[in-house]
Amino acid sequence: MATLKLGVLGSGSGSNMQSIVDAVEENALDAEVRLVLSDVPNAKILDRAERHSIPNRYLDCAPWKTKLEGPAEDECIRLLKEAGCDTVVLAGFMRIVKPKLLVAFPMRVLNIHPALLPAFPGVHSWKQALDYGCKVAGVTVHFVDAGTDSGPIIVQRSVPVLEDDTPESLHARIQVEEHIAYPEALRLLAAGRITVDGRRVRISP
Ligand code: GRF
Repeated sequence: MATLKLGVLGSGSGSNMQSIVDAVEENALDAEVRLVLSDVPNAKILDRAERHSIPNRYLDCAPWKTKLEGPAEDECIRLLKEAGCDTVVLAGFMRIVKPKLLVAFPMRVLNIHPALLPAFPGVHSWKQALDYGCKVAGVTVHFVDAGTDSGPIIVQRSVPVLEDDTPESLHARIQVEEHIAYPEALRLLAAGRITVDGRRVRISP
């Protein structure tokens, strides 16, 4: 049986989930994606899961628009537990998760953020980096805590910001690194190489 039993939450295209599934299928990650949930009906991430025969479903998160709370949060936790998930992967999930999920999966909820945190938390961070005039941008995979994009950092990868970049071209360059960073962070977790010491994530050799 695979070491990590993953539940993936996403709202959009699912390219990060795809990179994780690809790593699993290439035997480059000792994990199994057990369930994919999306708060957006017909999101592409669900199609991708379907194509790989991964159980998937839409999770109605109404009436909240920006957070996972209340009955939807309970249902999410129930579905993840029922599927035997031990690790929750937020992959383009456009909602704030609340403490209940974090308590149900202690230090086992990960997120990917398209910026070099702590710079530019929140939405459209690649555009924020561009508008700010940064010369370097990037991606962060981190444990989720009660804040927004504020948990201990596991992996970061950087990209240059080019003179003629648009928000789209910069985001595309960052996404290439995202697809390396998420499987890498999960590989470290699967190998038991991660120790969290306050804010610092130590990676053993
Ligand atoms: C990525 O840029 C990720 O960093 C951010 O949302 C986007 C999701 O992309 N949190 P995808 O759905 O994985 O393609």
